[in-house]
Amino acid sequence: MILVTGGAGFIGSNLVRYLLDIAGEPVLNVDKLTYAGNLQNLAPIWDDQRHVFVRGDIADGELIGRLLAQYRPRAILNLAAESHVDRSIHDPDSFMHTNVVGTFRLLEAARAYRASLPAEQKDRFRFLQVSTDEVYGSLDAATPPAAEGAPYAPNSPYAASKAAADHLVRSFHRTYGLPVVTTNCSNNYGPCQFPEKLIPLAIHHALEDRNIPVYGDGGNIRDWLHVEDHCAAIVRVLADGRPGETYNIGATNEVPNLALVKLICATLDEEHPRRDGASYLRQITFVTDRPGHDRRYAIDAGKIRSELGWAPRQSFEAGLRQTIRWYLSNQDWVRNVTTGAYRDWIARQYGAGADHPQGDHPGGRLGNAALPAHQGGVETAAARL
Ligand code: NAD
Ligand code: TYD
Repeated sequence: MILVTGGAGFIGSNLVRYLLDIAGEPVLNVDKLTYAGNLQNLAPIWDDQRHVFVRGDIADGELIGRLLAQYRPRAILNLAAESHVDRSIHDPDSFMHTNVVGTFRLLEAARAYRASLPAEQKDRFRFLQVSTDEVYGSLDAATPPAAEGAPYAPNSPYAASKAAADHLVRSFHRTYGLPVVTTNCSNNYGPCQFPEKLIPLAIHHALEDRNIPVYGDGGNIRDWLHVEDHCAAIVRVLADGRPGETYNIGATNEVPNLALVKLICATLDEEHPRRDGASYLRQITFVTDRPGHDRRYAIDAGKIRSELGWAPRQSFEAGLRQTIRWYLSNQDWVRNVTTGAYRDWIARQYGAGADHPQGDHPGGRLGNAALPAHQGGVETAAARL
């Protein structure tokens, strides 16, 4: 079994499904269910007996320690995070709690758990930290893509919190010998991404006949990676990545924001034309830039390609079209996360008196039910919703 944290979020839920369906690996899924965590993302595998979901905070060392002792995973994949740069500008506090303190507590729990394992399992154990290319900071147009040895230069509170976590992970390897691997990936896109991030937000606003906001001059560049390619890369690194090493994951696919938004509009024009026959392009609106907005991210993924034989499979045009189709076919999902219906559901399901959040949920194995004494995490999380 593998412990995945943040497995109800965008990448985490795609990864949990990938681990069960493609890799055939049972999963213990621990997620706090913040606004970004959504059990609907797990609906396709909710009946799968190999999946155990526990609502909890990675910063809750006691809970994590108990879960590790109970389920005895062979690896921890840490994806739990506050992940949105704009939110980190308005409310950096939660980023420090989860991304820094949470990672630290998880490392501490992993260290204690590993020490309790027999020698052979101790050797096999891995702690995989999912990080971001944003730790390398902004590159100017002439700078080559960042390789693993590039200096860290985070510019947003989000990037700084992820950089801090990466340093902690590294230190637990060097100081305590914890077998860690870190992956730094570029911007992901695909199904189930919360519509606060550029691609799903642009699709959602286009369909709602709202302005599609482009920050600044739209010339900022991101390096886009399909989430399934990312999941495959994580599984490769988990299998054969060398402890103490870092692996960049990217698709060598740099696109300026304005070009990306125009491509979304053009694809939507074909897939779901506006009723008035006009192009969605008319909805693009330039808005005030994000403070400290990094101009360009670009990642050199040569190491994972040559050392582990991983390469992305999705072309950007095909992956983007498939993603747009997913959002068009899952408008209920979008409505639930954007209208407050999902929050209402959580409050109803987990609010006052609902201490066993998954008590009535159809199917699935519910880790919390095995931990009746530990209900504090539920209350903590509910307070943040
Ligand atoms: P997300 O915001 O969609 O999901 C994060 C998940 O973590 C949510 O389900 C949330 O409920 C959970 N969570 C938050 N705080 C928690 C806590 N204290 N304890 C337990 N669970 C908690 O994020 P994502 O886009 O899926 O990103 C996943 C990971 O990948 C993050 O570590 C992020 O930094 C990293 N990453 C993301 C991207 C990207 O483009 N999305 C790029 C590079 C790296
Ligand atoms: P985002 O999806 O928030 O990811 P990140 O900031 O982690 O790269 O943003 C991607 C790019 O799109 C980034 O340059 C900011 C820009 N952006 C907009 O232009 N408009 C928007 O409404 C959003 C959310 C982002």
